Amino acid sequence: MPAIVILGAQWGDEGKGKATDLLATQHSQSGAGTQIDYVVRTSGGHNAGHTIVVNGEKYATHLLPSGILTPGATSVIANGVVVSPEALFRELDGLLERGVEVADLKVSANAHVIASYHSVVDKVTERFLGKNQIGTTGRGIGPAYSDKVNRLGIRVADIFDEKILSAKVEAALDVRNQLLAKVYNRRAIAVEAVVEELTAYADRLRPMVCDTSLLLNQALDRGETVLFEGAQATMLDVDHGTYPFVTSSNPIAGGVCTGAGIGPTRIDRVIGVIKAYTTRVGSGPFPTELFDEDGEKLQRIGGEIGVSTGRTRRCGWYDTVIARYSARVNGLTEFFLTKLDVLDTWERIPVCVGYEIDGVRHDEMPMTQSEFHRAQPVYEYFDGWGTDISGCRTLAELPANARAYVTALEEMSGAPFWGVGVGPGREQTIVVHDR
Ligand code: IMP
Repeated sequence: MPAIVILGAQWGDEGKGKATDLLATQHSQSGAGTQIDYVVRTSGGHNAGHTIVVNGEKYATHLLPSGILTPGATSVIANGVVVSPEALFRELDGLLERGVEVADLKVSANAHVIASYHSVVDKVTERFLGKNQIGTTGRGIGPAYSDKVNRLGIRVADIFDEKILSAKVEAALDVRNQLLAKVYNRRAIAVEAVVEELTAYADRLRPMVCDTSLLLNQALDRGETVLFEGAQATMLDVDHGTYPFVTSSNPIAGGVCTGAGIGPTRIDRVIGVIKAYTTRVGSGPFPTELFDEDGEKLQRIGGEIGVSTGRTRRCGWYDTVIARYSARVNGLTEFFLTKLDVLDTWERIPVCVGYEIDGVRHDEMPMTQSEFHRAQPVYEYFDGWGTDISGCRTLAELPANARAYVTALEEMSGAPFWGVGVGPGREQTIVVHDR
């Protein structure tokens, strides 16, 4: 039964960890087991950012699944992830140095590798794009995925066979070096240096590497609970997001199947995490973006600064068109609404209920990106509640206007609300519809 997907329903940074916390708490209280057995990353790489709070201490992870700080749960980096061994061990060592107990970690033999040349290429490409840049995290994610699709990628298993590794690195660098030297005016990268860089991790990596598709399917056969933890988000999906201002993988629910090697029929719940307003980092269209005091206030009160890059996030109002779109392309069984408390001090809260594009009203996502770039939000206005809601633990305890806001969003978003976050703490959650 229990294969659960938690993913971002907007442009990322929705607070997915909060939904994971509620799931872990409910699961341990249900008698179904003491905890979630597997926490799995299926796409992206160290471009993500999770903040985990354990015993009041804050830890940030980028590549490691959030389950890494839950001993007893196995953390899995599945085949769809692009793995920088350097980032992997830097994060692991960072946790070990702080004396925390880390969970068992498994890495797919088929996951693709990010070597240092991928981030070099990421950065020079962005510089070259000038004003058309994507605003990537510069971590080499796009170049690693493009090598994968070009069939020039290095997989984790290749690190253990130096002869194969050398041949693959040589093939990968062949055209890349021509580009670096002749187009970007950079020094070519030596094959031997990359082989040395990657084989240096072989001994530490070997015991972690396995067939993670087999591992996870067998766990599901035994009735264990597997949490597929999304990174990035729906609107950053390379197929369904705001292309080309997207990441290079499929963070939507469908990406979980390809990224982990499990069939769609195995998934029981797909939870879309969505903020009570909207944020985005990097470039690209964002219809409800605010350029005024309200935007600055959302940024300040919401602490909207990227965990991964330290960049300030662009802020805007809740967009029900995006919510409905997300519910549709992910087949969401429910939403988890986060950061409602950030809106405590507004007298009037606008909510985008549709777009106007070239004089035509759209209730659903327009068909083309160029229309989306011209979308003007159509707002409905809700009365604020003007009081601190961070202590509320039930829907009934919320002020009437906050309840009306949540109910209206739920009606317009295309899937039931499972829970609502009213503060950063683990316990600051309201369960709306129990599962
Ligand atoms: P890349 O994933 O580094 O290639 O960046 C592509 C786009 O996705 C950029 O706009 C990034 O800011 C955005 N992005 C990547 N990872 C995250 C994330 O974890 N949260 C929010 N945005 C992200």
